[in-house]
Amino acid sequence: MQDSRGCPIRTTSPQALEHFERALWRMLSFFGDPVADLDAAIAADPAWSLAHTMQADFMLTLTEPALVPKARHALEAARPHLGHATQREQLHFAAAELALAGRWRDASALWDLALRDQPRDMLALICAHLFDFYRGDARSLRARVARVLPDWPADDALYPYVLGMYAFGLEECNVYPQAEAVGRRAVAGDAKVPWAIHAVAHVMEMQGRHAEGMSWLVSRHADWAVDNGLSVHNWWHLALFHLESLQTETALRLYDESIGGSSASVNLQWLDSAALLWRLQLLGVDVGPRWTALAAAWADPIAHAGYYAFNDVHALLALLGSGDAARADALLVAAAERASRAPREAAPDNQAMAVEVGLPMMRGLVDFSRGRMRQCIDRLLPLRGIAHHFGGSHAQRDLIDQTLLAAASNGVDCGVGRALLNERRCAKPLTPLTEHWARRVGVSTGSIQPD
Ligand SMILES: [Fe+2]
Repeated sequence: MQDSRGCPIRTTSPQALEHFERALWRMLSFFGDPVADLDAAIAADPAWSLAHTMQADFMLTLTEPALVPKARHALEAARPHLGHATQREQLHFAAAELALAGRWRDASALWDLALRDQPRDMLALICAHLFDFYRGDARSLRARVARVLPDWPADDALYPYVLGMYAFGLEECNVYPQAEAVGRRAVAGDAKVPWAIHAVAHVMEMQGRHAEGMSWLVSRHADWAVDNGLSVHNWWHLALFHLESLQTETALRLYDESIGGSSASVNLQWLDSAALLWRLQLLGVDVGPRWTALAAAWADPIAHAGYYAFNDVHALLALLGSGDAARADALLVAAAERASRAPREAAPDNQAMAVEVGLPMMRGLVDFSRGRMRQCIDRLLPLRGIAHHFGGSHAQRDLIDQTLLAAASNGVDCGVGRALLNERRCAKPLTPLTEHWARRVGVSTGSIQPD
């Protein structure tokens, strides 16, 4: 049999395929839970390896340490059926095994191999795209999608999701007008494509179009905000637009209603919570007991340290924010210990990220929280050029610059503050947030007007 895009599959069950296709759409759109559909696909054809493999793929793309044993179990369930799987399905299994071992780059190389044979292998494309994001590989976010895009007919039901990925890749490569055009094309039809809406929001964030960004997300609310796995992150983007205009009360309300508390239940959502509270605190906002609640909700950050450096950094923010210095230190020690193990015993891609970016950033954030602003600046400043190596987006990593601006404030280092503000001012129009940092750093906004 073949799937809807002509990719060979080893199942004879139309029901299994139908559930699988539904799961794939859920993974692309973030609507609902693909696991239930994959359970149904497996119930219809327990010997279809790819359905088991996709269970593992989905769980691993969440960067959620608690799901790793389940992902391993799913692959063990696939293994006995590999003998009669297609070559493509065997390739997918091998890629998932590499992802399970923390070899995200090698896994993506195998998914790329699958895409060379089958440019419309959507499972390979979305898995590689998400891991490109987690590895901060902006070039591949764009180029991997570009390598297959011309092979997709525009009337394919999943075509808008390919456009959504391409839009985000273009945005992370700073190709803003094209990113926005492609993102808008992705949502021009009936398909709900939160990833494309998100890509356009990123463009507006990077260009300082905060009022437009608010309107964009609010006007598209029905297409991203309800029963959607990306909604917390898109609410976070809406809160960032409010922060850019110094509407901190609105940002705090969005936190309470849609970002923090019971809205967040996995690392990818807790990290948005931490990133928002940290930025609010940098602006002098008292966030009350929210830090303590977030630190308490975060599942075992110390036990899970070393799985993904980007998550560790944000878990550290929660512990520092809650005032739990002992657990913050323990998290840093645990992350450093795992990064120093032999690569065979730990996740090698994460080790590189942790050594290069995660651990020095954590140490700089500890310095900041303990008032050692000079040390904080000395640690964080050199990371600015390489911080993308530990993943996330430009918008997420702006937390480094905002922390540096806060550290440089009040006469600590006017030169660093001015340099950062000059860079900011050349990238986007003068916003209330930039004006705020200029005041704190002690630089007149008139002096940072570009031509
Ligand atoms: Fe984002």
